Amino acid sequence: MKVLGIETSCDECAAAVVEDGEKILSNIIMTQIPFHAPWSGVVPEIASRKHIEWIYAVTKEAIEKAGLTVCDIDAVAVTNRPGLLGSLLVGLTFAKAFAWARNILYIAVDHMLAHLYAPRLMTDISNSQFPVPMQKPDYPFLGLLVSGGHTIICKADNFDDITVLGTTIDDAAGEAFDKVAKYYNFGYPGGAVIDKMARDGDSGAFHFTLPSLHKGDHRYDVSYSGLKNAVINQLDLFKKKKGPHTNEDIAASFQKTAIDILLRALFNAAEDTGLGTIVAGGGVAANSYLRSCLSEQSRLRCIFPPLDLCGDNGAMIAGIGYQYLARGESSPFNITASARVNGFKKKYP
Ligand code: KG4
Ligand code: ZN
Repeated sequence: MKVLGIETSCDECAAAVVEDGEKILSNIIMTQIPFHAPWSGVVPEIASRKHIEWIYAVTKEAIEKAGLTVCDIDAVAVTNRPGLLGSLLVGLTFAKAFAWARNILYIAVDHMLAHLYAPRLMTDISNSQFPVPMQKPDYPFLGLLVSGGHTIICKADNFDDITVLGTTIDDAAGEAFDKVAKYYNFGYPGGAVIDKMARDGDSGAFHFTLPSLHKGDHRYDVSYSGLKNAVINQLDLFKKKKGPHTNEDIAASFQKTAIDILLRALFNAAEDTGLGTIVAGGGVAANSYLRSCLSEQSRLRCIFPPLDLCGDNGAMIAGIGYQYLARGESSPFNITASARVNGFKKKYP
């Protein structure tokens, strides 16, 4: 079964074709970054408008790159939650129209569950765009979902069955990278920029403390507002002092603390649940310090999707969509989009 996957929950306008939930035939990702960069953050209205302008061409390209025509598509999968409401509605409406016009099934899926599905996709080694074959994780495993809007540590028992163990109590991990980069004028989006700068910096140059959330109810939770403010407050001192430290040192020190916060909660969850496999997903899962720390863990098997499947993409949507369809499920045409998913909400102490 060839499923067209459509993803427009944030600032990537993406479409892909995946066969039988595993084999990626095409994966087109058009980023809106240059349009949001002047504001150092995603502007929801701009995002919705760009999706409206691009969705037809992106979908057409995905079908053509797969070597298919619209008549070869058997079903459509689309993200309808969580994300920016206007952006979600563009993809959802387009997917419904496509399915209705072709008289094929469509399925609306959860974006965060789709990130956890990404390592189940098989890449075609002969296709140089997706050269990395992936290890498929067995259920149950521990999921680490880290993006611009979410930070979730969960137990995954199946592709559609997760138990949230911990979340952020304030900002998301990616949001902290983006905000720090914004205040220091490092560039946008902050995660990739800070990651690159940190390679030339001294992570011990500045000491930022970890939040005291390691006990009781918050053992698997994280917090980023304290770190974000501490790093931003450092800016004035940093500018005045003209000391030996560089922008790269700030980037490396912030990155180390931000990732150590995640690792502490994750290792607590691994220890308490006894789960030895970790699957990471979302934009922050591309972070090189996070990847190197996790790959050094001899007692844990850590699975990361290749970089082009870490961020938002249509292949993970088509892949997880197939699993629902194979179970005989599909969505009614009156289903709508939702900005939030209850279980993924921030916790307030
Ligand atoms: O999953 P994603 O592409 O979109 C959302 O659903 O939010 O994640 C985007 C987030 C941004 O905050 C971006 O700064 C962050 O992922 N990010 C990174 C890296 N690459 C992207 N954060 C840390 N290190 C990276 N290498
Ligand atoms: Zn995402």
